Amino acid sequence: MRVSVDDDVCAGHGVCTMLCPEIFVLDDAGFARAVVEEVAPELEAIAREASLRCPTQAIRVD
Ligand code: F3S
Repeated sequence: MRVSVDDDVCAGHGVCTMLCPEIFVLDDAGFARAVVEEVAPELEAIAREASLRCPTQAIRVD
C-alpha cells in the first residue's frame, strides 16, 4: 500500500499524526507529510483509518 498527503488539501488538523506517527509527521508549517511511501503491512489498517478520519480528506491510500 502506498500513502501520500495532498499538501494543497491538508489543513493541519493532526488527526493522522496522532493516529499513526510512524507514517505521518507535521512539518514546520504545521502540515502533514508521509515519511514513508510504502506502508508496512502491519500499519495498513491505521493508515486507512487516518485517511478516513482526516477532516479534509487530504490522505490518499492506494
Ligand atoms: Fe492534514 Fe488531515 Fe492530517 S488535515 S494534518 S492530513 S488529519
